Amino acid sequence: MQIVKNIERMQKIADKLREEKKIIGFVPTMGYLHSGHLNLVKLAKEKSDIVVMSIYVNPTQFGPNEDFSKYPRNFERDEKLAKEEGVDIIFYPESMYKDNLTFVNVENITKLLCGESRPTHFRGVATIVSKLFNIVKPHLAVFGQKDAQQVAVIQKMIDDLNFDIKLVLSPIIREKDGLAISSRNVNLNEKDRKNATILVESLRFIKRQIDEGNTNLKELIEQAKKMIELTPNAKLDYYSVVSYPEIRKIDKLEKKTLIALAVYFGKVRLIDNMIIGE
Ligand code: PAJ
Repeated sequence: MQIVKNIERMQKIADKLREEKKIIGFVPTMGYLHSGHLNLVKLAKEKSDIVVMSIYVNPTQFGPNEDFSKYPRNFERDEKLAKEEGVDIIFYPESMYKDNLTFVNVENITKLLCGESRPTHFRGVATIVSKLFNIVKPHLAVFGQKDAQQVAVIQKMIDDLNFDIKLVLSPIIREKDGLAISSRNVNLNEKDRKNATILVESLRFIKRQIDEGNTNLKELIEQAKKMIELTPNAKLDYYSVVSYPEIRKIDKLEKKTLIALAVYFGKVRLIDNMIIGE
C-alpha cells in the first residue's frame, strides 16, 4: 500500500493508472476508520482495479463552533486498517487549500436537514469532494447512505458539473445494537452511548407503523420526537421528512421518502436516517 501526501504526485499516479486502463475506485473519508468506511472499500474493490482512499479532516465543512479540533484522528491505526482491507493508495494531504478562493455551492437541496443547522457545511463538502475528484481522477466513488443528504448533494454536483464519475452507494453499517457507526461515537460517554440507540429505535418505530398501514407522517414524527425528548441528555436538532433526492419538505409518503434526524448528546452530534420506497 502506497501513501501519497503530495497533490501533484497523486495526479501523476492517477494519470499513469488511467493510461494503463486501470479502473480507479475512490473512497473519500475523514479518517478514524470504522467498519462503515471499510464497507465502502469492499464495494470499491468489487468494482475497480485500484482503490484510492483519501484521509483528510476537511476544515471548510465544520462551522465555527463545531468539533473540528476534537474530531478523532489516528493515522497509524487508519493505515493498518486500510492495508488489511486491501486499499492500494492512501491519499493523505497535509493541506488542501492554501489561498483557495473558489467554492462549490449546490443550491436548494442543501437548505434543509443538516444544511439548516450547519449552513456552510455542504459548501465545504462539495468543494473538497470536487478538489479530490480532480486529484484522484476516479472512475467511481463510493459514499455511505449514513449521510443521505451528502449523497444527494454529491450526485447533483456530479450531474450539474459533468464529472465523469459514477457514484456507488453503500447501505448504513450499524453496531450490533443498531447504532449507526460513526467516528464520533468514541466521543460519547458510556451512558450516552447506551442511550444513543434511541435514534435507530425511533426510525424503526416509524417504519413498523408505516408497514402496518399508519401513514400519518406528522403524527408519527411527533411520537418519534417524544421518544428522543424522553431520552436523558438527548437534545433533538431536527426530525424531518423530505422527498429523496430532492430534499423537499413533504407531509405524505412519496415514491422515495427520506426520514432523517440529528440528535446531540452533550457536544456530540449524531445523525441517522432511513429511505422508504427504495
Ligand atoms: P466521513 O464522515 O469520514 O465518512 C466517509 C464516508 O463513509 C461517507 O461516504 C460516509 O457516508 C461513509 N460512512 C460513515 N459512516 C458510515 C456507516 N455507518 N455506514 C455506511 N457508510 C458510512 O463523509 C465524510 O467523511 C466527509 O464529508 C467527506 C465526504 C470525506 C468529505 O470531507
